[in-house]
Amino acid sequence: MTAQIIDGKAIAQKVRQEVAARVSERIAAGKSQPTLATVLVGDRPDSAAYVASKQKACAELGMGSVHCPLPADATQEEVEARVRELNADPKIHGILVQLPMPAHIDEERVLQLINIEKDVDGFSPLNIGRLAQKGRKPLFVPCTPYGCIYLLEESGVKIEGANAVVLGRSNIVGMPAALLLISRNATVTVCHSRTRDLPSVVRQADILIAAIGRAEMVRGDWIKPGAAVIDVGINAIPDATKKSGRRLVGDVNFEEAKEVAGYITPVPGGVGPMTIAMLMKNTLHAAEIQDP
Ligand code: GUN
Repeated sequence: MTAQIIDGKAIAQKVRQEVAARVSERIAAGKSQPTLATVLVGDRPDSAAYVASKQKACAELGMGSVHCPLPADATQEEVEARVRELNADPKIHGILVQLPMPAHIDEERVLQLINIEKDVDGFSPLNIGRLAQKGRKPLFVPCTPYGCIYLLEESGVKIEGANAVVLGRSNIVGMPAALLLISRNATVTVCHSRTRDLPSVVRQADILIAAIGRAEMVRGDWIKPGAAVIDVGINAIPDATKKSGRRLVGDVNFEEAKEVAGYITPVPGGVGPMTIAMLMKNTLHAAEIQDP
């Protein structure tokens, strides 16, 4: 059996086109331009690159963006003051504080300050709390897990009643992904570094979401035949055949897994493009809530 490859690039492109169309309708109707503020504390090159792609996507979709860089030695008070200013600015609909922040900053205190209506990353305790409770709805769902669920739904994978296994319990991906799957009536197992006999747990999964950050850790013989495999990992490994001397792989051994799975996302070109597409969708939603 060879798996159906889930084309994240194409699905993300479709989301982006839908968002761009709704943005131009809003603007034509005289409503405000959806605008995202990005807060970047420090100069981590990976974070700077992510933030630059988020701003580029805003421009491509006709949305506004405002960048708020702060130095690596900014104080807690300075970061909080910037978030308060953005909360109070009616021209800003979404606030994204790029993570991780420098170690001296209390991330939780910053995230809980973000106005829930502007929390387009869905990381504020209020949004996560709503996601975790039955019958409550968050205003925003974290972008990468939202992208994972969107890929499953667009591919026609049935989530309700499925056995889902999530590898990893990070605040950004694993935990919110597990909560989203539960909210869609899957039976969910969350695995982490202390899980015993990981391969046998993974073999029970009709749906596998791998977000542990270990290159090609999940082998083909861990996969249940016909399973849907969503690979969130982006890991660089040495490859002498490439000019850069490296290539990107996921947390799943793609060549092995695609022979067993029913559906699988490639790396790159699977979950990656979805994160920014869902951020754009959330930012449009934020504008629609604040300026209907
Ligand atoms: N760092 C890694 N992923 C993310 C994300 O989705 N949002 C933010 N704010 N920071 C991140």
